[in-house]
Amino acid sequence: MIRTPICDLLGIEHPIALGGMGSIYAPDLVAAVSNAGGLGAMGCHGLSPERIREGTSAIRDKTNKPFALNFLLFEAREESFAAALALRPAAIAFAWPRPEQDLKPFIGRAHDAGAKVTFMAGGVPEARRAVEAGADVIIAQGTEGGGHVGWQASLPLIPMIVDAVGPVPVLAAGGIADGRGLVAALALGAQGVLLGTRFLASTESPLHTNFKQAIVDGDGHDTLLSDIPDLAAGTVWPGAMSRSKRNRFIQRWAGREWALRQNQAAALAQVQDARKRGDREEAPLSMGQDAGLIHDIAPAGEIVARIAREAEQILDALTRTRR
Ligand SMILES: Cc1cc2nc3c(=O)[nH]c(=O)nc-3n(C[C@H](O)[C@H](O)[C@H](O)COP(=O)(O)O)c2cc1C
Repeated sequence: MIRTPICDLLGIEHPIALGGMGSIYAPDLVAAVSNAGGLGAMGCHGLSPERIREGTSAIRDKTNKPFALNFLLFEAREESFAAALALRPAAIAFAWPRPEQDLKPFIGRAHDAGAKVTFMAGGVPEARRAVEAGADVIIAQGTEGGGHVGWQASLPLIPMIVDAVGPVPVLAAGGIADGRGLVAALALGAQGVLLGTRFLASTESPLHTNFKQAIVDGDGHDTLLSDIPDLAAGTVWPGAMSRSKRNRFIQRWAGREWALRQNQAAALAQVQDARKRGDREEAPLSMGQDAGLIHDIAPAGEIVARIAREAEQILDALTRTRR
């Protein structure tokens, strides 16, 4: 079994984590990943204190293993953050601060509540800033990933962040969907991986089946980094674009973002309707380039076990070759 020091730090068996996904309320998915020995995470972005308590209790009904509660710092609401801390999760996972935000109070309060703190960074300066403020783990997130990502690819980014923040442990994210990705991440100096898109195409994921199938059908070339999903939603992120399927909706507005701004309300209504209908061409679907590595919709626990097993087999084979 592959264990790295981060497993002891976070109280998990496999160095495999689920990315908090604020747009998706999925206690069953979180519990399934934690039950399989990984670290589940519930995205709390936009959730009320009641909904956070409800989700956490639904997770705890299914598992007594550690999991994280995830906050996007640029718009973390005090009452929701306080509610999350009161629930005393094993970890608080932060991402996307505003440049001027002071991170220390957030990290300090999470530590006072007994939680370990993970912090997602798409670049070295951000990673250093989080470590200086006391983060326990850095998630180095490459631009290949699904949802909001930075500009640098995982291959150079991961070792750069490892070098910059050591001995603070790093998890690699962005474009990883199988055991090969885990082994590569370890080779680059990370202590494990964090995955989003792979778990979206899981049995427990609450996405419409058509969207899960769109990930399975994706070839990895069919994504686009844009601010179109955010413009349609009327949200402004601090410097992030989001990677989503390059479907009809995205192609309609690419290069015509001004027109989308002008028609935001109507576009949002159409998106909401398309999402309900499971229309994979007319609703934005966040997914990473690793969609090209995803060939089935599988139970989340099996995904964790598969990645761990495959990584072990690769490492065994590599060691045998060297003898
Ligand atoms: C639909 C979706 C929503 C996401 N929402 C969040 C979020 O709320 N908070 C966060 O820290 N990361 C979020 N992410 C990013 C993931 O945590 C992770 O970094 C990313 O999915 C890794 O790349 P991968 O998709 O190639 O595995 C989201 C990703 C996706 C696909």
